[in-house]
Amino acid sequence: MQTIVRLADYRPSDYLIDRVDLDVRLHPTETRITATLGLRPNPAGEPGAPLVLDGDELTLVAIALDGQPTGPGAVAVTPRALTLHQPPQRPFVLEIETQVNPSTNTKLMGLYRSNGVYCTQCEADGFRRITYFLDRPDVMAVFTTRIEGSREAAPVLLGNGNPVEQGEAGPGRHYAIWHDPHPKPAYLFALVGGRLGRVGSRFTTMEGRDVEIAVYVEPGKEGRADFALDAVARSMAWDERTFGRAYDLDVFNVVAVSDFNMGAMENKGLNIFNDKYVLASPETATDADYANIEAIIAHEYFHNWSGNRVTCRDWFQLCLKEGLTVFRDQEFSSDERSRPVHRIAEVRTLRARQFPEDAGPLAHPVRPQAYREINNFYTATVYEKGAEIVRMLRTFLGPETFRAGMDRYFTVCDGTAATVEDFLAAFAAESGRDLSAFSRWYAQAGTPTVAVSSTYDAAARTYTLTFRQSLPVVATEAAAPAAPQPLVIPVVLGLVAPGGGPVEAASERVRDGVFVLDRAEDSLVFGGLDAAPVPSLFRGFSAPVKVEHALTRDERLTLLAHDGDAFNRWQAAQSLAMEVLVGRARADAPLAGEAGPDGASLTAALATFLDGEAAAGGTLADPAFAALVLTLPGEQEIAQAIGAEIDPDAIWRARQTLRVQLGRDLGPRLLALREALAEPEGAPFSPDAASAGRRSLRNAALDLVTAADPESGTALAVAQLAGAATMTDRLAALATLSLVPGEARETALARFGEAYRGEPLVLDKWFALQAMIPEAGTLERVRGLMHHAAFSLGNPNRVRSLIASFSLNNPSQFHRPDGAGYDLTAEVVLALDGKNPQVAARLLTAFNTWRMVEGGRRRHAEAALRRVAEAPGLSPDVSDIAGRSLA
Ligand code: ARG
Ligand code: ZN
Repeated sequence: MQTIVRLADYRPSDYLIDRVDLDVRLHPTETRITATLGLRPNPAGEPGAPLVLDGDELTLVAIALDGQPTGPGAVAVTPRALTLHQPPQRPFVLEIETQVNPSTNTKLMGLYRSNGVYCTQCEADGFRRITYFLDRPDVMAVFTTRIEGSREAAPVLLGNGNPVEQGEAGPGRHYAIWHDPHPKPAYLFALVGGRLGRVGSRFTTMEGRDVEIAVYVEPGKEGRADFALDAVARSMAWDERTFGRAYDLDVFNVVAVSDFNMGAMENKGLNIFNDKYVLASPETATDADYANIEAIIAHEYFHNWSGNRVTCRDWFQLCLKEGLTVFRDQEFSSDERSRPVHRIAEVRTLRARQFPEDAGPLAHPVRPQAYREINNFYTATVYEKGAEIVRMLRTFLGPETFRAGMDRYFTVCDGTAATVEDFLAAFAAESGRDLSAFSRWYAQAGTPTVAVSSTYDAAARTYTLTFRQSLPVVATEAAAPAAPQPLVIPVVLGLVAPGGGPVEAASERVRDGVFVLDRAEDSLVFGGLDAAPVPSLFRGFSAPVKVEHALTRDERLTLLAHDGDAFNRWQAAQSLAMEVLVGRARADAPLAGEAGPDGASLTAALATFLDGEAAAGGTLADPAFAALVLTLPGEQEIAQAIGAEIDPDAIWRARQTLRVQLGRDLGPRLLALREALAEPEGAPFSPDAASAGRRSLRNAALDLVTAADPESGTALAVAQLAGAATMTDRLAALATLSLVPGEARETALARFGEAYRGEPLVLDKWFALQAMIPEAGTLERVRGLMHHAAFSLGNPNRVRSLIASFSLNNPSQFHRPDGAGYDLTAEVVLALDGKNPQVAARLLTAFNTWRMVEGGRRRHAEAALRRVAEAPGLSPDVSDIAGRSLA
């Protein structure tokens, strides 16, 4: 078992590395790396301590200290560490030569080859797979990298920082030298060597720096890189406008590779991307792909300040860069697209991914206190809940003070490896407020619940809202469960008149629409009211909490129709639907899965909503918003609302029955909308939010209409599939068809698979769609597709699209009552673990909700988890997830 690393045990490094000169001679199987390290004792460290450099699967070729061979017994070397027993107590130089094999590196950490392209991934601890090093983020050095490779196989050689020199290096070989003037931790190191196509442009920063920006892709795919290139320029401009942050090198390169464990990586000046988040054309990418590309390009670019210029002292501070950078990319997307629509999408992700994580055995604070394997902490909690904390901080302090705090943080911490405390100190200094209670958000795991009750006193004309917060007690590996302390919860609120329209009622506890709940229980009194208003609470989802608020159906209808806050209009429809869904899906519900009268009142409300929207703008003011209002809460969300003894089949049935009902009751309206929103023949394609919104409502309509009337819906979908001008419309039609068993579906699937034989990223969508069919036959379909020529366990995108779609996004089939879904998942985790432990561990998190399902399934799930946990030779990654899941 891997040892536990604890935040409480943090000590500064005993040695520092100021300068690194790397000389990398690329070779498919025998790449040689010479690292010349300028070291010195750290004044903050322990004098005379041995120097222990990290390594991982390394072969040492040679070592010299200050240009001399090291004496016998001076150095101890294993594949995992290089120890210099008595290092000089003055500045000194170590020269280390190692050899690695990029072709057999299937973990995709360190230096590896993807489709023949040499590339690297060093976060969190991959640099130690290239050379022996102090591989920790608080050791920051200036890197100069010489990359040498075959002119034929690697005409493009890229490194961090700015290009310095290039030239011949013997027969058939050439080299390039890159210098990065900004000191950085080793996890931000990168290099690339390969045959790559390039698109480029220029950007002049507000400081007048002329930056060459480029996106490198597989040759022949240059036409699919323009959107990403444009997103880079828009990100640069946005960060200048919004946070006053300018780019700081002469070049900014993005490289797309096809084998990548995560989404992308913010290496200094050389971002390396999963090609799924770079390549886009109307023929191959959906609107969702375009939105993701824009968001991830922005995310990695924004890391240049929040992550690179200011980095993390240790990996416990991961949210310092990730939560903050997610917040920044969310703001970017909201500004570039539709803010309310984007906010709803963020909250849906949070509820579908982070809430279950926070409620299950893998729950951890946004800043964990202990870990066995850091790569398992790149989680929805660190990223998404981390972003929510930053958002709450802005709500709590107000936008101006928040911006001033950000400026101070960037100025004070520039060039350092910082902590969450450093971050909060900047805001405390700028606002003059004590943020120690607020900081509990970083330390306490679990999703808080806020229960709200209200009373209206007609005689006194007062309206009182009472809030009670409670936090689950969460035991983590680091600490015994402690009684949670009250959190600082910003409640953005307003009052709506029963007939619509805002109510002007003041409370001195509410400033700029924000009430701060910072005790276990608190009340708010509004005076001068002639009737009870309808409260609109947590507008814009102002805090990542579950709200228990017994609004009547009429009150919800008022909010859906009249709330000035678009998020809460959507939320009102969601909670109306959730009530129906939970009622039907509870294992003990008498009418499980049957249509009931409450469904009719939901469809009536949605009909009124659609009519109101249409009246407001002639056509629809915001089709994307309407599409979201028509989308029922997902199965994971319904499961969370039920909480225990879940029957995933009953959840699916309840949701399906309600979809049928919506399709039936709203059918004529939905068909009319499809007509009204049709693209004019030959209209040029645009991936912008407005066009995407029209497509999303058209396709939501198709989906509901087909649920109610599979026969005529199938005809519509088949026609759409044949005539679609975009991948969005084609895939939506195929997705709709995939839910209707029969000939038409199988023909359409087969044709699509054939048509995109040579397009792995499109086939991924095809794999995913089939893996998500909510039918018993899907398990065999998935097993069959694992033998498809385009499928490979070696490629993370393929595993995610076929296997993770089944295990994480098809709840009724993953949780098959016979346990076969669990078995398949466990089998793939074990088969994959020897190749790629990170992706295997991620897949295993599908078992996160196993304790919530009813007894029969629960026993199968536990048995499958135990089989994984007890398998011999597990990676630390998988054994960590298995162990915590069973604890
Ligand atoms: N820092 C990357 C990001 O932008 C994530 C890289 C994580 N990679 C890993 N192997 N843990 O979110
Ligand atoms: Zn990130």
